[in-house]
Amino acid sequence: MSTLKLDDFLITGRTYGEYCAFFNLDPIALKGKRVLDCPGGASSFVYRAKKEGILAQAADVIYSFPIEGLKARGEASIEIIYQDPTWMQGHDFTFYESIPNHRRFREKALKEFLHDYNRHDYRFATLPHLPYGDGAFDLVLSSHLLFVYDDRLDEAFHMASIREMLRIGQEVRLFPLIDFKNSREQEEQNFSPLVERVIEALHGTYDVAIEPVDFQFQRGGGYMLRIKHKT
Ligand SMILES: C[S@@+](CC[C@H](N)C(=O)[O-])C[C@H]1O[C@@H](n2cnc3c(N)ncnc32)[C@H](O)[C@@H]1O
Repeated sequence: MSTLKLDDFLITGRTYGEYCAFFNLDPIALKGKRVLDCPGGASSFVYRAKKEGILAQAADVIYSFPIEGLKARGEASIEIIYQDPTWMQGHDFTFYESIPNHRRFREKALKEFLHDYNRHDYRFATLPHLPYGDGAFDLVLSSHLLFVYDDRLDEAFHMASIREMLRIGQEVRLFPLIDFKNSREQEEQNFSPLVERVIEALHGTYDVAIEPVDFQFQRGGGYMLRIKHKT
């Protein structure tokens, strides 16, 4: 891990409430289920999910760093993100209501994540490899990595990462399906082209579906991809 530097990363995370919206989660149905947040970043999904009785864990490449570094870089990342919020122009603020409130979600996630961060629940992992056994989880949630950075993460990385998530999980949900610039916003279908490639590759072996969710921030972004082992 000597080649990784904390300054290479913007450390951000979303809250449990945001995850429930991204992934249509039903906390009651998830009670007692094993759920992995991958990559977890500075998300507070695990913190709150455990309080709901969900057996939640997270994996991320940043979990090799000590808490002091994550705190400092996490706080600096929030400053950087809101220095020039013009990137949020045109977004749908139905959920967040305002930019200051959007920032409060990031701050809350970071605070709860740092409070909860421990070596057991938060494991260092470098996709497309995950340090868990086959079928270790009932559900794997993957937010804001795959499809979002399709300009720098290629199809092979996407396929290998999703197959690895399906090795360890009975079901995988991915959100969002569009890139971080929403560069295809003007097109009829604004999903990353990799969404279709993934569906083509997996649909015979797994149950695969694009499902609407009750959340939109990027325009046209209110969909997740759900992939399940056939029963
Ligand atoms: C934008 S954050 C999303 C975090 C969280 N899922 C959320 O929605 O708040 C993306 C995360 O992906 C992690 N990441 C990037 N490449 C990775 C890799 N190859 N393996 C594991 N984690 C990776 C980064 O460290 C970062 O924490």
